[in-house]
Amino acid sequence: MSKKRVLTGVTTTGIPHLGNYAGAIRPAIRATQAADTESFLFLADYHGIIKCHEPQMIHESTRAVAATWLACGLNPEHTTFYRQSDIPEILELNWILTCITAKGLMNRAHAYKAAVQANLDNGQDDQDHQIEMGLYSYPVLMTADILMFRANDVPVGRDQIQHVEMARDIAARFNHRFGRELFVLPEAKIDEGVELLVGLDGRKMSKSYGNTIPLFEDSKKLQKSVNKIVTNLKEPGEPKQPDESPLFEIYKAFATPEETAEFTRMLADGLAWGEAKKLLGAKLDAELAPKREIYRQLMDNPGRIEDILQAGAQKARAQARGLLDEVRDAVGIRSLKTA
Ligand code: ADP
Ligand code: TRP
Repeated sequence: MSKKRVLTGVTTTGIPHLGNYAGAIRPAIRATQAADTESFLFLADYHGIIKCHEPQMIHESTRAVAATWLACGLNPEHTTFYRQSDIPEILELNWILTCITAKGLMNRAHAYKAAVQANLDNGQDDQDHQIEMGLYSYPVLMTADILMFRANDVPVGRDQIQHVEMARDIAARFNHRFGRELFVLPEAKIDEGVELLVGLDGRKMSKSYGNTIPLFEDSKKLQKSVNKIVTNLKEPGEPKQPDESPLFEIYKAFATPEETAEFTRMLADGLAWGEAKKLLGAKLDAELAPKREIYRQLMDNPGRIEDILQAGAQKARAQARGLLDEVRDAVGIRSLKTA
C-alpha cells in the first residue's frame, strides 16, 4: 500500500506566532511522525509576496519560518522540506491549473471577497481597487502546491479550509476534463482541539495584523505579550467564563483536556485574570523554551538552513518533474517526436 502524503506550508510574511504553531506547525509535525506517512513541508514565499511588499521582511521571515519548523522537530531526513520558490515546477503547474479554474470559483475566495468588501465599505466605486492578481489567484497557487505532491492530507488552520476545498474542486475538474486520474483529491485536516487563536487586538492572530504573540520570544517578553491579552473588568473572586477572554483558547491549545478542565474550574471559582495570565505564560514557556534554544542557534546559522533547504529542493523537484510531465502530456504539450 502506498504511504499517506501529508503536506502543508506557511507563508513567509513575518515571524511565526502561537496561532501558526498550534494551528499548523505542531499538527503537521505530529502527522509527519506517524507511521506510513510521507511528508512535504514548505515555506510559501511566493504566497508571501502577495501580502507583503517588504523584501527585507520576506527574506527575514524565510529564515525565521524555516528555523521554526526545524526547532519544532521537523526532521529533514524524513520530510521533504523546501522553499516554494526553489521548485519552478510548481509555477508551471500553477499556470496549467489557472487555465482550467473557473473565474467564478475565485470570486468566492474569502481573501478576495474580504478585500472587495473593504473597498465597498470605504465607499470605493471600483470594487477591485488596489486588488492585485496575486491575491485573486492565490487559491490556484495553493492548489498547485498541494496537487504537485499528490497530498492526501493538508493540516491547516480553519481559515484555510476553503482553499483546500478549492484544490479538491480543481483536481476533480482536471481529472474529469482530461479523463485521467492524475491528481489526488486532498483533504484539510483540522486539529479539533485548536480554534483559530485570537490576537492581541481581538482579531484573528495573524502575521499580517501585527497582533501576534511571537512563538520564540524570551520568557519575559512572552509573559509581557500574554499580559496584553484582552480580558473584561471582572475582579478577582468573581466567577469567569472561558469565552470571556481569548486567553482560554490559547491555554486550551497548549494544555491536556484535564488541565483545561481544571483551568475552567479555577476561572469559575474566581481566579484573577492576572493569575490566569501567569498560568498561561508558564504553560507556554514550558512547551516552548527547549525549542526556543534550537531556534536561536539556527537563526545564527542561516547557511545551515540554506543547505537543508537546497537538499530538500532536490528531493522535491525529483518528485515534481514526473507528475508535471504527465500533466503536460495530458493537456497536449509534448515533443513532436511522440505520437
Ligand atoms: P498568518 O495569518 O499569520 O500570516 P499564515 O497565513 O501564514 O498565517 O498561516 C500559516 C498556518 O497557520 C495556516 O495553516 C493557518 O491556518 C494557521 N494559522 C494562522 N493563524 C492562525 C491562528 N490565529 N490560529 C490558528 N491557526 C492559524
Ligand atoms: N495559504 C496558506 C496560508 O496562508 C499557506 C499555504 C500556501 C499552504 N500553500 C499551501 C498551506 C499549501 C497548505 C498547503 O496559511
